[in-house]
Amino acid sequence: MLQGKHIVVGISGGIAAYKIPDLIRRLRKEGAEVKVTTTKNALEFVTELTLQTLSGNKVYSDVFAAINEHSTEHISLPDWADLMVVAPATANVLGKMAHGIADDALTTTFCAMRKPVVIAPAMNDKMYANESVRDAVGTLSSRKHITMLDCAVGELACGTTGKGRMQETDAILEAIRFALTPKDLDGKNVLITAGPTQEHLDPVRYITNHSSGKMGNALALECWRRGANVMYICGPVPTLPVVPELYQSDTARYVLTRVTSAQEMADAAFAAADKAHLIILCAAVADFTPQHVADEKIKKVAGQTTQTVELTLTPDIAATLGQRKRDGQILVGFALETTDEQTNAQHKLESKNLDYIVLNSLRDAGAGFGTDTNKVTIYAANGTKKDVPLLSKENVAREIVNSLTV
Ligand code: PMT
Repeated sequence: MLQGKHIVVGISGGIAAYKIPDLIRRLRKEGAEVKVTTTKNALEFVTELTLQTLSGNKVYSDVFAAINEHSTEHISLPDWADLMVVAPATANVLGKMAHGIADDALTTTFCAMRKPVVIAPAMNDKMYANESVRDAVGTLSSRKHITMLDCAVGELACGTTGKGRMQETDAILEAIRFALTPKDLDGKNVLITAGPTQEHLDPVRYITNHSSGKMGNALALECWRRGANVMYICGPVPTLPVVPELYQSDTARYVLTRVTSAQEMADAAFAAADKAHLIILCAAVADFTPQHVADEKIKKVAGQTTQTVELTLTPDIAATLGQRKRDGQILVGFALETTDEQTNAQHKLESKNLDYIVLNSLRDAGAGFGTDTNKVTIYAANGTKKDVPLLSKENVAREIVNSLTV
């Protein structure tokens, strides 16, 4: 989603500046164009040559030299930019930005910036707790065009542990995507289920499927970026979405519930469903679970060649929520099929009282379980359908949410 975007990276003088070349590299890898502005002190931590080489552009660090060359660079950079990210933002630079002090290349650029700005502070924990710094952070985060990241807790360069670390590059990148996304789901509560479930046979074995959670993660992030309050219920998956911690305790906007079994997923979904405006059921839920879970590991018996496991039906979350659907609530299911795809998907759409069903087929290369891509068809209860070609799961998630009337 950063393809073709113009990003100004502002670096101030903190040890975390050493991470910014990687941020620049990753921004460019995602297709963004990058220009860099720094304070003088930042160049004590990272060289101009590194920044120039990685960004592919001249670095704007000396306001007087720049004025000689391009008389209004501190105006032309903000004009050129779609977004500015200030990382790391030191206590000094936070104070200046909060109070309109513009005495170097970075702060003059920030002062003229009227587009989205992402700020990632980093400093000693005692400095971060200082009242003046708190005030500056509070002032900046109250401005509509600014996304203020909170510091993370962890080891600090000064040898102590505390709240003062700059957030990781993944989180800063996600904050940039967030800041560039229109907030059309602002105030909406979105419930998403994702991942597989595990149905235990005994303390060491379970029945499961190949869902990696990638499609659900992409949907959770897409809804979070659009401003929704996301309730994400996820089975056992290896990776979860990176949702950056925003300063104004935005954690309430993303609530993660980890579950293991279909019953646990159902309990969590039923508890959250009432307040949801939109429900997206992307999980690959086990349809059956062992009737009895053995207390001890099931052993082979000499001469035994077969083993029978009796299975019982799990709650059908989608069908139950379809019956309980309240006025205005939108219910979206998924169908992973291997044959008679359209017929099976449309049957699920009707029988579970869904508003939409997203069909993906294991017969399509690159679609379904575990892949970073998907190819889907979205069927609506009103009879319309939309084909989404093979795209990254991030882009498929965007297409799915774009197709819904919420
Ligand atoms: O996680 P990934 O590796 O990225 O893979 C993504 C995916 C392939 C898992 C996802 O795109 C997908 O297709 N999810 C649905 C998988 C599925 O098998 O659905 P189903 O046909 O069994 O169920 C139909 C619908 O009912 C689904 O919305 C499902 O969440 C829901 N369901 C099913 C059974 C049950 N007990 N409760 C449910 O809510």
